[in-house]
Amino acid sequence: MKVITKYLSLAALMLACTGSVSAQETTAKFPLIPYPAQLTAGEGSFTITAKTSIVTSNAFNTEAYALKDLLRKGLGKPIEVSKVKKAHAINLVYDASITTPEAYRMSVTKEQVVIRAKDPAGVFHAVETIRQLLPVGVEAGVVQKQLSLPVVAIEDAPVYEWRGMHLDVSRHFFSVSYLKKFIDRMALYKMNKLHLHLTDDQGWRIEIKKYPLLTQAGAWRTFNNQDSACIKKAKDNPDFVIDKEHIIQKDGKTLYGGFYTQDEMKGVVAYAAARHIDIVPEIDMPGHMMAAINSYPFLTCDGENKWGELFTKPICPCNETTFEFAENVFTEIMQIFPSKYIHIGGDEVDRTNWGKSEACKALMAKEGIKDLAGLHSYFINRMEKFFNSKGRKLIGWDEVIEGGISPTAIIMYWRTWVPDAPVKAVKNGNTVIMTPGEPLYFDNQPDQYSVSRVYHFNPVPKVLNAEEAKSIIGAQANLWSEMIPSEKRADYMYMPRMTALSEMLWTHQESEYDSYLQRLTEQYKRMDALKINYRLPDLPNLLNQYVFTKEGKLSITSPLPGLTIRYTTDGTLPDTKSPVLPSPLTISKSELVRVAAFTPTGTRGDVYNLNYTQQQMLGPVKIAPPKPGLTATYYKAFFKKTALMQNAKVDSTFSTDKIEVPATVKAPSFGITYKGYIDVPTDGIYSFYLTCDDGGVLYIGDKTVVDNDGNHSAQERSGQVALKMGAHPFKLDFIEGGGGFKLLLKYSVNGSAPQDVPASWFKN
Ligand code: ACM
Repeated sequence: MKVITKYLSLAALMLACTGSVSAQETTAKFPLIPYPAQLTAGEGSFTITAKTSIVTSNAFNTEAYALKDLLRKGLGKPIEVSKVKKAHAINLVYDASITTPEAYRMSVTKEQVVIRAKDPAGVFHAVETIRQLLPVGVEAGVVQKQLSLPVVAIEDAPVYEWRGMHLDVSRHFFSVSYLKKFIDRMALYKMNKLHLHLTDDQGWRIEIKKYPLLTQAGAWRTFNNQDSACIKKAKDNPDFVIDKEHIIQKDGKTLYGGFYTQDEMKGVVAYAAARHIDIVPEIDMPGHMMAAINSYPFLTCDGENKWGELFTKPICPCNETTFEFAENVFTEIMQIFPSKYIHIGGDEVDRTNWGKSEACKALMAKEGIKDLAGLHSYFINRMEKFFNSKGRKLIGWDEVIEGGISPTAIIMYWRTWVPDAPVKAVKNGNTVIMTPGEPLYFDNQPDQYSVSRVYHFNPVPKVLNAEEAKSIIGAQANLWSEMIPSEKRADYMYMPRMTALSEMLWTHQESEYDSYLQRLTEQYKRMDALKINYRLPDLPNLLNQYVFTKEGKLSITSPLPGLTIRYTTDGTLPDTKSPVLPSPLTISKSELVRVAAFTPTGTRGDVYNLNYTQQQMLGPVKIAPPKPGLTATYYKAFFKKTALMQNAKVDSTFSTDKIEVPATVKAPSFGITYKGYIDVPTDGIYSFYLTCDDGGVLYIGDKTVVDNDGNHSAQERSGQVALKMGAHPFKLDFIEGGGGFKLLLKYSVNGSAPQDVPASWFKN
């Protein structure tokens, strides 16, 4: 599908031809996210007053009232919904010729608005398009005598049918009112699936009438280590303060938790359905079941309920009582959630204790099950038959394919480090939803690249052909809440990333990224009106470590109008009373400068710690005779820190002129040290940018230039070193702890754009 923006009028066309205003004008006038498949702009506008009508047939009644509610917020008065033709109206017209699900056509002229669709979802998406074309004040109930819509013709339809968001309400709990807000924001950006992770080791969040202890006991806990970690972080960042409404006192104890009654959840489901969002419930089993097993210990093979090496003990797939429990639970779940899709989880199962169970040994012999992965599949496949008998489709995390899976199950892919899992699933005949940890785990700390990574994500693995690609029905971002204890933190983690996801899935035009960023700048105003605690755009071009020889100069361009950048040099966090950063700030001694942007209401963006160090230019060393490339030493072991490689057994060595992991390295955990010289062509302050998953440290001369050590997901850290022309000792240590690796080194000199380090600079 192609995004097309056309100007029909000659005047506008001439302006466009001068090359001066068209793109800007279009994004300012139509700051739509997701951008429609096709948009043709005209001149003038359609005026909406209290006298304007909405004309509709019965098919689109709910959507007519959604539009009426929207316009009431802007006009302060209700407008009429009519079944008969009116002179000045917004017409919602059933059009059987529009066959793509969720598609709509919208024509705005000075005289009338006509929205055409075959299904109500299409009309609803058109209403949300209108919402984004109205002044942002409408979101906050700012009333005007009249509203206007620009003259335009839109043809729109989604590229992907599954446009999902996930919310983990187990690790931390979120109120019904927050769920409704979340749904409303999803609707604004045309997302259509809300996957609720309702149960896990840390809390059971949905009432099940047959097993009341699941929530009476399982919804409450004393503070756990994740709560403690949040409480610690809250000292520096108020978004980590645990939402107080979920903390209670009971029997002299402070407890955290909460759950949704079935009635409450039915209300949420109806609220979402009116916005054409399907709520997909997940009851995660057979692993992640500690909260249930605490009250119903018969669910395990041996009655024990504890953490294993990585995960808790799962329920036992070898006892009929387990299936009776699971079927009873899912029967109630299906009564609450009408969704065609029900998620059974199936991830991260510690299967070891199944192997010790007599019941499992007997079942495996009887059923001819070869191994424990097969037993895992036996559980999932049997539950799928139960789901299917109730007319529902089963979704499972991608581990469920390991022991063989029925081709009718739907696979949700998440394990970035098992890249062939979605391909295998597709070849097995399964439908697949893509939620790879990188870039779609929105609980990963966002950075300056995360919005772009989401925008440029392609849900279809390259190795699939066009026919196979049809099995990939879309993608979803997951928001795991171990470290998300508040609504404000949740907002910060998923916004604005969700807008990139929305456009990636609906419009899917990678080339529109610059236009998307401009439209996003406009969308921030709407998010402000909606009081969304979105992550402010990054302060541009900052490094972690700076060096200077005589004087450092720091200037920062604000990424959004209206922000104030403040700083401290005494180590404290910048606050609204800290001085405003001058342009430039002159630094004449080694010190830590902490900077942050503040919104007009005083919300602080990310704090940047900029370490300034005064340094003499490092002189070059003599190497004779220099040979090209670096020497790489490979260690096949797991390391938590790069320094631990020093005492490790060397597996092999090789020569390379690139900082990259050779394709031949297949070990899940390993370390590599790249050693030699870097031969720089001019004197200068060199900046290095080291992105790695997991850790890496760059040393040049006797300096640690970038410290990006430890086990973590892909993150960039940067630093500087002052170098005289010539060769300098170079060492880069890299460790991979398991779970998808990345290693990338770029440089810039004296303020140039970051680029690859030329291979010819490496010597040994
Ligand atoms: C998962 O992140 N365990 C699906």
